[in-house]
Amino acid sequence: MTAPVTAGRRYAGAALDRVEGLDKVTGRAAYAADHRPADLVHAVAVPATIARGEVVQVDVDAMLKRPGVVAAIWHGNAPRLATSDEELAVLQSRRVAYRGQYVAVVVAETPEDAREAARTLRIEYVAEEHDVILRADHPRAYRPENVNAGHPSDTGQGDPDAALAAAPVVVDEEYGTPAEHNNPMEPHATIADWHGDGLIVHEPSQNVSGLRATLASLFGMPPGHVHVVSPHVGGGFGSKAKTLPHTILAALTAKQVGRPVKLALTRRQLFVATGYRTPTVQRVRLGAEPDGRLIAITHDAVMQSSTLSEFTEQTAVPSRVMYAAPHRRTTHRVVRLDVPTPSWMRAPGECPGMFALESAMDELAIACGVDPVELRVRNEPAAGPESGLPFSSRNLVACLREGARRFGWAGRDPRPGVRRRGRTLIGTGVAASTFPALRAPSSATVRAEPGGRYTVRIAAADIGTGARTVLTQIAADALGTAPAAVTVELGDSALPPAPVAGGSMGTASWGTAVVRACEELAARLEAAGGTVPDGGLEVTADTGREVRAQERYSRHAFGAQFAEVGVDADTGETRVLRLLGVFAAGRVLNPKTARSQFIGGMTMGLSMALLEESIMDGRFGDFLNCDLAQYHIAAHADVRDVQAYWLEEEDPHLNPMGSKGIGEIGIVGTAAAIANAVHHATGVRIRELPIRLDKLV
Ligand code: MOS
Repeated sequence: MTAPVTAGRRYAGAALDRVEGLDKVTGRAAYAADHRPADLVHAVAVPATIARGEVVQVDVDAMLKRPGVVAAIWHGNAPRLATSDEELAVLQSRRVAYRGQYVAVVVAETPEDAREAARTLRIEYVAEEHDVILRADHPRAYRPENVNAGHPSDTGQGDPDAALAAAPVVVDEEYGTPAEHNNPMEPHATIADWHGDGLIVHEPSQNVSGLRATLASLFGMPPGHVHVVSPHVGGGFGSKAKTLPHTILAALTAKQVGRPVKLALTRRQLFVATGYRTPTVQRVRLGAEPDGRLIAITHDAVMQSSTLSEFTEQTAVPSRVMYAAPHRRTTHRVVRLDVPTPSWMRAPGECPGMFALESAMDELAIACGVDPVELRVRNEPAAGPESGLPFSSRNLVACLREGARRFGWAGRDPRPGVRRRGRTLIGTGVAASTFPALRAPSSATVRAEPGGRYTVRIAAADIGTGARTVLTQIAADALGTAPAAVTVELGDSALPPAPVAGGSMGTASWGTAVVRACEELAARLEAAGGTVPDGGLEVTADTGREVRAQERYSRHAFGAQFAEVGVDADTGETRVLRLLGVFAAGRVLNPKTARSQFIGGMTMGLSMALLEESIMDGRFGDFLNCDLAQYHIAAHADVRDVQAYWLEEEDPHLNPMGSKGIGEIGIVGTAAAIANAVHHATGVRIRELPIRLDKLV
């Protein structure tokens, strides 16, 4: 055992208020779209109205005669870009790869003129047959090289088919999750402003360093000539992590018209080209002894991507980590359709994958007559079930036990459909959660001023999670000072490069760099007799070597989710009466912001379970429900009693803070816990989300 990671910590672990909280609630915090450089013009992207084919002609001349219109740009008059990324090759071809793809942009003096111009722009197309519906048996389903986050597409051990054929108890079912769309509170917006050969971009971004690199390469200039400014981000859930077509459109337009351009997407446009979660079709087979001990697990997942680029959700990856079984297999298949490219949405892979696996585990518990908490405990692996690596820490069992105690699980009657409160059928369910504890190389600078003030500079992103606050706490501890003496500057590509606020790895990655910079600064100050020189003292750290040299462990956060639901016996309406989660995610650095992350994830999981569903219209080749009136997201009245707890987990194999990521695990397993509770309430097993009333009556 190495020294406890909590030694000498004063502020990490404290429930500090957000350092920018007052600015946000008083409206002083400026978001990208608030920015108004002089001479600003407004751009509106024009989406394709066919799902596949070609743009023949765009009537630019008629458009330019309209009052207030400054420019109309399409493939026929757009500047050429240097990119092989077809998703970002905006206006570089006549081809239309999906309905909604940007085929033109119009620019006007006012947003109203630009909107009207975009609405009336005449575009001539040649349409071709399109194919937009995902099926597991689609003839074009293929095996991708690897899947999101660098996982192999397929893995296997033993002989799962033979083991399943001989297993005393077998569950063999197909599960489905629909396409879902990220809907951060702040819609995407870009303000692009060229100054000579330099480009300034104001945009909410989860990854300012990455966006700077992509823009520099596309426009053929050194990264130092691009400046991405993103101090505040109103949520992203993955949709602001990659460089998106509208950003390229804004930069290209600003270059063409020689004035700063604002391109703000409408809520409806968020449903087209900012990413979404792919629908999934998943077959899970579990073979077990009569006492529930697993002999075989197979998890085969089919997802969609676009014809432009391959994005493969890592749907079956959690099944490589969760439970022991000698015979196992996971596979991923992709179908490239005439649709937008799917992308990251909170817990990509783990979220839909664990809906299937944890629903199947509930079905196995019933088939074996074993309590579902007990079934999971019985299948705990001693080490990574596929990797064979020791877990750096794994407290799933403790989460299940603690959750069961807090929830009041003991003595649960397993029979479905027998508890009634008036017209309401009552049921309870449980599911496990998991998410990898990742870390990427980062750099950070810390500067001491005479008088005891410190400034930390890092191109991290605070997307509403509290990153700025937690980095302040981490720096205060490492410097042996109070948080009030530390200012953290982030959200700007001119700061020392840092990795994406994604994959729940922001704090682990950035925090390591901040600690190393602060340690080095403290050492140099001590060597200098403890006084800060008149000009200040500055240290930069880069964690590349440390992160790459990290010992090999299987690093994951785990959790247990418990749900109580009420289902109206006549109408089939489902209400989630209670959600209770217990998580083991290393050391929690700020209980206040962490609790918000956990209950936010669980709320999004509730929303996924009951409401969220992007419906593809086969005829038009587009999603039908492209606004919040038709794409339903849980509202306050849907979210009644959500409780999140965590175990204090000591794990010396992670990072100097001892933390695991907490941004995504809250959504993992929630939908399965709710679906399992709905089965307990009604006896109806919903294997395809969302749990709509028409599926229950
Ligand atoms: Mo998250 S989907 O990794 O931003």
